[in-house]
Amino acid sequence: MNNRPILGIIGGSGLYEFTALKDVETIEIDTPFGKPSSPIVIGTLSGNKVAFLARHGIGHFLSPTEVNYRANIFAFKKLGIQCLIGISACGSLREDYAPGHIVVPDQLVDNTKDRARTFFTDGLVVHVGVAEPFCPELSRLLYSAVAEAGATVHSGGTLITIEGPRFSTKAESNMYRSEGISLVGMTACPEAFLAREAELCYTTMAHVTDYDVWHVTEEPVSVDMVVRTLAKNTQMAQLAIQKLVEIMPEEMTCSCSNALANAIITRPECVPP
Ligand code: ADE
Repeated sequence: MNNRPILGIIGGSGLYEFTALKDVETIEIDTPFGKPSSPIVIGTLSGNKVAFLARHGIGHFLSPTEVNYRANIFAFKKLGIQCLIGISACGSLREDYAPGHIVVPDQLVDNTKDRARTFFTDGLVVHVGVAEPFCPELSRLLYSAVAEAGATVHSGGTLITIEGPRFSTKAESNMYRSEGISLVGMTACPEAFLAREAELCYTTMAHVTDYDVWHVTEEPVSVDMVVRTLAKNTQMAQLAIQKLVEIMPEEMTCSCSNALANAIITRPECVPP
C-alpha cells in the first residue's frame, strides 16, 4: 500500500465522519494560516489511503464564512495529497437537477464577500488561471464513480457560491436562474481557487438537497430539508468515493500540478527587503 494518501476528502454539512474508512489514524495539523476545521482522519479504502476533514468542524460549528479554507487546503498539501474532492450541499436552480441527485459542476461564479481567497500576500502577487475551475480529469473520474455507486448524477452546470449563512431571496434565486446558473451553495469558493493555487486537482460532489426558493410548487429551502436529504445520501457518497479510489490513475495527466508555472508576476529581485 502507498504511504501517502491518494485522495483528500472535505466533508460538508451532514458528513462529519467517513465511517467506511478502516485502520484510521487521526492527526492534528498546523499550518501558517492556522488550524484546519477539524483534525484529519487518515484511513484505508479499498486498500488505498485517503484523508478526510470535516469542513464545518465535527458537530458543525463553523459557518461558511468562518471556515479556514486556506488552512484546510494547506493541510492536504502538507500531507502530499494531489487530488481533493469537496463534498457539499447545494440548492438546485433548475427542474431536472432534483433533490437527492448528485452534480459534478464544471463552472463557478464567486459571489462571496468576506473570505481570505489567496495564499499569496505580503509582497508576492500571483494571478492563477481558473477558466476551468474544476480539474476536468478528476471530475470525469468522480462522475463515473458516482454513476457506478448507483446515484442519479449529472455532469456540468454552473455553481454560484453565496456568502451566507442566510439562504437566498426569491429575487436573488430568480436572478441566478435567469443568468443560466444551475446550483447555489456556500463553500466551493474560495475552496476550488485555493486548491488551484496549491496546484491540486479539485472537484466537487454537489448533493442537491432542495430547489432553493424559486420553485412554485416546492417548499422553500430549510435546514431540515438539507439535513434530511444529505442523511439519505451519506452511504452512497462513501460508496462513490470508494469507487473513485478504485479507478484513480497513478499519475494525473491534467495541468493542475503546474498551475503556478506562469502565474507569479512579482519579480523577486524587486521585492523590498
Ligand atoms: N446548501 C444547500 N441548499 C442550499 C441553498 N438553497 N442555498 C445555498 N446553500 C445551500
